[in-house]
Amino acid sequence: MKLITTIKEIREIVSEWKKAGKTVGLVPTMGYLHEGHQSLIRQAHAENDKVVVSVFVNPTQFSANEDLSSYPRDIENDLEKSHEAGASLIFHPEVSEMYPDGFNTYIEAFGVTEVLEGASRPTHFRGVTTVVGKLFNIVQPDRAYFGQKDAQQAAVIEQMVRDLNFPVKVVCCPIIREEDGLAKSSRNVYLSEEEREAALVLSQSLKLAKKMLEQGEKSAEKIKQTMTEKIQQEPLAEIDYIKIVDHRSLQDVAVIEAAVLIPIAVRIGNTRLIDNFVFGE
Ligand code: PAF
Repeated sequence: MKLITTIKEIREIVSEWKKAGKTVGLVPTMGYLHEGHQSLIRQAHAENDKVVVSVFVNPTQFSANEDLSSYPRDIENDLEKSHEAGASLIFHPEVSEMYPDGFNTYIEAFGVTEVLEGASRPTHFRGVTTVVGKLFNIVQPDRAYFGQKDAQQAAVIEQMVRDLNFPVKVVCCPIIREEDGLAKSSRNVYLSEEEREAALVLSQSLKLAKKMLEQGEKSAEKIKQTMTEKIQQEPLAEIDYIKIVDHRSLQDVAVIEAAVLIPIAVRIGNTRLIDNFVFGE
């Protein structure tokens, strides 16, 4: 399993692959890979001849009050997990390779970025689109894989690809869940046994919403109210947001007539968890 650190070298390798008629899938990550990432790599492996996994803890998506240095890193584990899932190589550049002295250009999507997660992290998505745009230009993949777990990130990247005509297909892969419904996340390790149990309220509230939608409920307010009541029954849970939004524009919807995304963010003790589902796509 190769670990490539320079843009020059990854470009040479991908160019050889392309000359040989191979298709290339890209799975952008910040490392510390887990089963969720592996499911993206497996899907990329099934749909492309070659798979590049990028491992880069991107400083531009962290704000001044977020601790970049304490972000977990384990490149040995990343190599093993990527290999297991079928990756061809890991692209693992230094910060100075991606952002050399004098770097001063950003990609920014509007509308989809100011809401939900972006409301409390105003510069976060600008960092994400900038680094993903750079990775698209460096690797030139045919397809790029993102998790539905970070639904807003996927929507922001789709918007960027549409608006800036990147010749890449964005593939959004389903949320991987534990058997009892909890969405897999690297944050789940922070949950105590009691909190782990309490965290089930996220997927349970989404299930309730799904049932109401399937039964024909069209009022976003009524669905949000039912979800709120369900989550409030759990003493360890504190709601950050429950939203019903257009699945593309991410703007609030009052009457549900087209496809909607229902994203939620809930604190369980000190751990902030997110979950979501799309209805009617
Ligand atoms: O989802 C992530 O891990 C990051 O936001 C991404 C897409 C790799 C960009 O740094």
